[in-house]
Amino acid sequence: MYNITVVGSGYVGLVTGACLADFGNNVICVDNDAAKVERMKALELPFFEPGLPEIVERNFNEGRLEFSADLAGSIRRSKVVFITVGTPPRADGSADTSQIYAVAKVVAQNLDGYKLIVQKSTAPVGTARELYTWIRKWAKRGAEFDVASNPEFLREGSALETTMRPDRVVIGAESKKAIDILKKIHDPLFLIETPMVVTGLETAELIKYASNCFLATKITFINEMANLCEALGADVQMVAKGLGMDRRIGGKFLHAGPGYGGSCFPKDTHALSAFARKAKVKSSIVDAVIAANEHQMNLMVDKICAGIGAPRGKRVAVLGLSFKPNTDDLRAAPALHIIAGLKRRGVKVCAFDPVAMAKAEELPEMRGVTLGADPYDAARGAHAIAIVTEWNEFRGMDLAHLKRVMKKPVFADLRNIYNPDEVTAAGFTHIGVGKGRPAAAGKPARKAARKPA
Ligand code: UDX
Repeated sequence: MYNITVVGSGYVGLVTGACLADFGNNVICVDNDAAKVERMKALELPFFEPGLPEIVERNFNEGRLEFSADLAGSIRRSKVVFITVGTPPRADGSADTSQIYAVAKVVAQNLDGYKLIVQKSTAPVGTARELYTWIRKWAKRGAEFDVASNPEFLREGSALETTMRPDRVVIGAESKKAIDILKKIHDPLFLIETPMVVTGLETAELIKYASNCFLATKITFINEMANLCEALGADVQMVAKGLGMDRRIGGKFLHAGPGYGGSCFPKDTHALSAFARKAKVKSSIVDAVIAANEHQMNLMVDKICAGIGAPRGKRVAVLGLSFKPNTDDLRAAPALHIIAGLKRRGVKVCAFDPVAMAKAEELPEMRGVTLGADPYDAARGAHAIAIVTEWNEFRGMDLAHLKRVMKKPVFADLRNIYNPDEVTAAGFTHIGVGKGRPAAAGKPARKAARKPA
């Protein structure tokens, strides 16, 4: 068991810290926001993640998990330092790694014996190797340390599951000592036979980007098929099913929708494109994915507006704001993009989200948007509802009640969580994504919107 400092208590840092403590290590989660640290000491977590409060509380009470704003002191008490700070996108799409280097400098200045610095923030390929040189520059002559890369693959909303039972662990390291420590730290996962990829620094870093860009490509591909389905009278959910049964393809991440969002895919696709450009390598697939995803979100605005007719002055209820269910994370959420598009067309938006409304209220994109107390309240007087995030509580709505409170019964199910026939049977015009219908004999295939009989 090790004494570990995890620097940066964002999503990755806090989940990593809590899980490492649960594996039996002594962990200090450090953040430079002193107020945030105080709140964490009072067990108030900075974001919503199912299961996390319980595991934080347990490990905190049992003394394996601490919170601190004292970076230098924490480093001196630790053998292993995980860096999990933010790498926000710069204007040109490249990742801003300045926080990583700032932390690494403090690590360098506090090397009092061998330490392993594990770079876990998603950073451009080459960062870990540069960090080694950087730390060498700031450390005392002869200081002993290694730098490793250990990318995270956690999914928000199921962060604990994906950290405690990951598909694989990737370790990028170049000394036996570093590899041994990281293997030992991940020992509890060995017991459940988690496969491990032990490789070089650059390769480990690229695995992370390749994974996220591939997943973004997969989603974007099925979204493109969805648009084809609408034009040609096919059903994207059946296409995805048939396609996914090919084991080389696999059925996951083939849910057509409003486009991907979140803190990873948008940022990582842009970052890969930026470092490919810098390396003078063409990244035409990833570039096309970025453009197609933007187009997909805009298309959702077109769909909703087509459903309500002349949009100016009409009301639309947007259900779901977070970029996906079970999180209050609004970073690059498709809902915000769609709301901005609707507002530009003069639509009045009323939104509802089970957990993300408090955070949403602070955002400039939400200016002029009213908030409902529940889905029906948001839908009151609306000319359409648009389900943008597939929260469970939107799955079984009382359609008769919904129709009664709305001004016009237009139902845009941008996550395909309803059976279109049930929605039309309840008297709504149904708009899905990729839910085309075959044409009557002799007529051209059309149209995505289904009207009640
Ligand atoms: C993702 C990766 O899954 C994770 O491995 C990585 O480490 C970080 O990025 P996350 O962003 O938390 O995780 O969410 P994810 O569940 O992957 O969804 C990302 C976005 O894609 C969401 O907006 C989601 O709605 C969308 N999506 C996902 C689809 O539109 N269709 C799908 O089939 C799957």
